[in-house]
Amino acid sequence: MTPHPDVAAALERPDDDHALTVAQARRALTEKFRAAGIDSPELDARILVGHALGLDHAALAAAPERILGPNETDAIGALARRRLAREPIARILGSKEFWSLRLRLGDAALVPRPETETVVEVALAAIDADGSRSRALRIADLGSGSGALLLALLSELPNGFGIGTDTSLRALLVARDNARRLGLLARAAFLACDMAAALGGPFDLIVSNPPYIASGDIAALAPEVRDFDPRAALDGGPDGLDCYRAIAAAVPALLIPGGSLVVELGAGRARAVAALLSAAGLAPAPPHPDLNDVPRALLARKAARA
Ligand SMILES: C[S@@+](CC[C@H](N)C(=O)[O-])C[C@H]1O[C@@H](n2cnc3c(N)ncnc32)[C@H](O)[C@@H]1O
Repeated sequence: MTPHPDVAAALERPDDDHALTVAQARRALTEKFRAAGIDSPELDARILVGHALGLDHAALAAAPERILGPNETDAIGALARRRLAREPIARILGSKEFWSLRLRLGDAALVPRPETETVVEVALAAIDADGSRSRALRIADLGSGSGALLLALLSELPNGFGIGTDTSLRALLVARDNARRLGLLARAAFLACDMAAALGGPFDLIVSNPPYIASGDIAALAPEVRDFDPRAALDGGPDGLDCYRAIAAAVPALLIPGGSLVVELGAGRARAVAALLSAAGLAPAPPHPDLNDVPRALLARKAARA
C-alpha cells in the first residue's frame, strides 16, 4: 500500500486501498477540525489519533511515518466524526483529569472544568487558615456530579469524610465508582437528594458547584456544553440562582460555628450570591478569581461561637 495523497478522503473511506501515515492522519483531522471551527484543532487531532492507536503523546510523536492499518484508520475516522458533531474530547475519551485525579464520566455527569479547581484551592486555604487540616473533617458536596470536588478534597485531607449529594442517580453512581477507583470510598458516601435536603450535619466544610446558567441562556451555549452536558447540571432556573437560594436556606444550620461554605460562581453572579449568603447570616469574603481572572469561588463563613 502507498500513502494516500488525499488524507481527508481516506478518513472518510477507511476501506480505501491506500494507507495513511500517523502524521497524515493528524494533519487531516487538524484540517477538518479547523474548518469546522473547533477551538484547538491540532491538540484534539493529536489526542484522538493517540487514543485510537493506544499511544501516548511521546509514542505518537516518535511514529509519524508509521502506516495505519484499515482498522486503525476506521477507528480514527469514527472518533473524528464524534468530535465534528461537537462531542467534547473528555466525553469521547470517557474521562477527565481534575486536581490530578483521573475521573470517569458518564453521560449523566458534567465534565469537570479546570476553573472548578479554584473551589478546591479556596476550600483548602480556609481549612489551613484554621489549622484544621489534620482534624477529622466532615465535608459535604452539594451537586457532586462526577465527584470532582469531594474526591479532590478527600485526596488532600487524609482525615476528611464526605458526603456528595445529587438529584441524578446516574451521576451518583459515577461519583461512587470514581471514589472506589481512587481508593477513597471508605471516606465517601453519596446520597440522592435535593441539594442538602437529606443532610443532618454538622459539617466543617460544605462545597458546591451548582447549576448556575439562567434557563434562557442555555440555547446560546457552545454545542459541546449545550448538547452534551446534562441539562440538570447547567440549568439554574430563570435567573440562574435557584440552587444558591437552596444553599443559602440550608447551609447555615448545617455548618459548625466557624465552618466554611465555598461555592463556584457563574460569570457575573458574585454580587447576587454574596447577597443571598449574607442575608442567610453567613459572612462572604471577596470572590477568588480563576486563572482567567474571572471571579470564580466564594468563601462564606459561619460565625464562630462567641
Ligand atoms: C454544575 S454540575 C457540578 C458537578 C461537579 N460538582 C463538578 O463540579 O464537576 C451540578 C450538579 O448538580 C446536580 N444538581 C442539579 N440540581 C440539583 C439539586 N437540586 N440537588 C442536588 N443536585 C443537583 C446536577 O445533577 C449536577 O451533577
